[in-house]
Amino acid sequence: MCGIVGYIGKRNATAVLIEGLRNLEYRGYDSAGIFIEGAGLVKVQGHVDNLAQKVGDGFQGTAGIAHTRWATHGEPNETNAHPHADCTETIHIVHNGIIENYRELKDRLIRAGHRLKSETDSEVIAHLVEEEHLKKNGGPAGLASFENAVLAALRELNGTYGIAMMSAAAPSTIIAARRGSPIVIGIGDGERFIASDVAPLARYTKEVDYLEDGEIAVINTSSHRIITLEEKIVEHASKKISWNIEQAQKGMYDHFMLKEIMEGPEAVRAACRGRLIVPEGRAAFEELEPLRKKLRKIKRIVIVGCGTAYHAGLVGKHMIEACAKIPAEAAIASEFRYSDPLLDKTTAVLAISQSGETADTLAAVREAKRKGALTIGFVNVVGSTIAREADAAIYYHAGPEIGVASTKAFLSQMATLALFALFLGRERGTMASGESNRITEALALIPEKIEHILAKQDPIFKMAKTLSGFNHAAFIGRSNHMAIAYEGALKLKEISYIHAEAFAAGEMKHGPLAMIDEQFPTVAIALQDGLYQKMISNLQEIKARRGKIFAIATEGDKEIAQLADQVMYIPATLAMLSPLLSVVPLQLLAYHVGVLRGYNVDKPRNLAKSVTVE
Ligand code: M6R
Repeated sequence: MCGIVGYIGKRNATAVLIEGLRNLEYRGYDSAGIFIEGAGLVKVQGHVDNLAQKVGDGFQGTAGIAHTRWATHGEPNETNAHPHADCTETIHIVHNGIIENYRELKDRLIRAGHRLKSETDSEVIAHLVEEEHLKKNGGPAGLASFENAVLAALRELNGTYGIAMMSAAAPSTIIAARRGSPIVIGIGDGERFIASDVAPLARYTKEVDYLEDGEIAVINTSSHRIITLEEKIVEHASKKISWNIEQAQKGMYDHFMLKEIMEGPEAVRAACRGRLIVPEGRAAFEELEPLRKKLRKIKRIVIVGCGTAYHAGLVGKHMIEACAKIPAEAAIASEFRYSDPLLDKTTAVLAISQSGETADTLAAVREAKRKGALTIGFVNVVGSTIAREADAAIYYHAGPEIGVASTKAFLSQMATLALFALFLGRERGTMASGESNRITEALALIPEKIEHILAKQDPIFKMAKTLSGFNHAAFIGRSNHMAIAYEGALKLKEISYIHAEAFAAGEMKHGPLAMIDEQFPTVAIALQDGLYQKMISNLQEIKARRGKIFAIATEGDKEIAQLADQVMYIPATLAMLSPLLSVVPLQLLAYHVGVLRGYNVDKPRNLAKSVTVE
């Protein structure tokens, strides 16, 4: 999740690109850079405002490319910011996506004498183009050579990309390419705009051309030509857009929260990319390589986090105990350091945080380090404080989460914890290969099962309509779904301001059942796992008190509809992974109730996205 913008025409390209980056900052904002033909390259750490200040007034031209970055490979700093250049600084590229085979390409390029400056995967692309375009031809040789070199370089890449690049040997031309990461071309009169989504184009033109996967566009001021990697010419009909900038940032969605819920499948895929090795039934974590010896000696795991991240920890506890057979517990980070926790070097403390900046979670990491425990940050934001201070950082690459309610990050957190549990299980020899094969295969299928849930929102919308008329709700579940009950209740209260409380289903008759009547509905996660019949008994107790029941149930379950007033069915998966599915309807439920009640679901009252104070 980064932002690309390019321009070629008669305007001041610097102004167009800087403005374009501002419209893309919602996609990433840890560093930014701009290349203007004839003026040069400027990069900064931090926001686009820093870039605008640094370029100053004299930095002008009519063609260029720019980028706002959300770090995946390498810290957010000036060197790692895009555009990246080749050794001769003839070629400049900006890239979104992940080049999976960049290490082997980088090694090969270094052996061939290239000097790579950054830690990014993206920089290899500039050098691969250089290799063909400049070295093999014995020097700059114009557009045809640039185009051929780009095709040759792209054929070497595994992974995903949206790219825009320029060569001094082919002036006033931008070549863009797409595989898995969007590129759209804005068509103007004697000018072309290139961007990773329509947000930066919307103010200049309504006519756009979307590249498809595997396509390359050779763009100049008055035309653009599209070819495939196999060098077939492609004709596209351009499209008209009617969006304003804010709509464009949200894509087809009314709110960032919904957009981010819909990005859940991709968030899980991103967390698993390069880590889930299905044919070998295992998970790999390059970033844990230096800690391997220490990890083998670990006797206990404590997972700390706040809010949603804490709930991910509750799910992670079950995963780790099931796979690695190590006692694990989840702790609320704001309580942790005041409880004088018993820690030593045989304890690993896993700090879960989307932002990597939550003050309470950071304090827990510091307390754990002070007491000699091994600390691992599970974070989304690369280079964040928790990532830097922990002994190792595992990034889950969910991309920026703008909505205050954490949704896709929660899925990434659970997916990463599942991978970590698998990794530890294999490392410690506590899992039979059949078992780890079953889990890896099931985890690989989770994204499409989430897509299946997201495609059928009608039952959830109906539930939301009913629920939006109540002022209270109970959420119940058992085992790892107790954590999902907590998460469902948190989502509902923060987005719709309905009083929602979560309970272990078995606890209802020890007190909370007293509240149940026609005015106090229950949302129950009642999947067909080992505890299904226990859940059915709990639901019967609620039904007997005339409480309304909204159930999340397994597809094919015939029994539940007799008890529940409304049911949302989700696909079956392994019990250990089912929280990755059962939470999705609850995220949607909170979203729809919040919208039906007329609230600003992206910015709930009294809350902030990143809580950097105690
Ligand atoms: O950035 P973090 O993951 O550390 O944030 C933790 C909590 O503040 C966060 O999950 C919060 O509970 C969300 N608003 C829940 O939707």
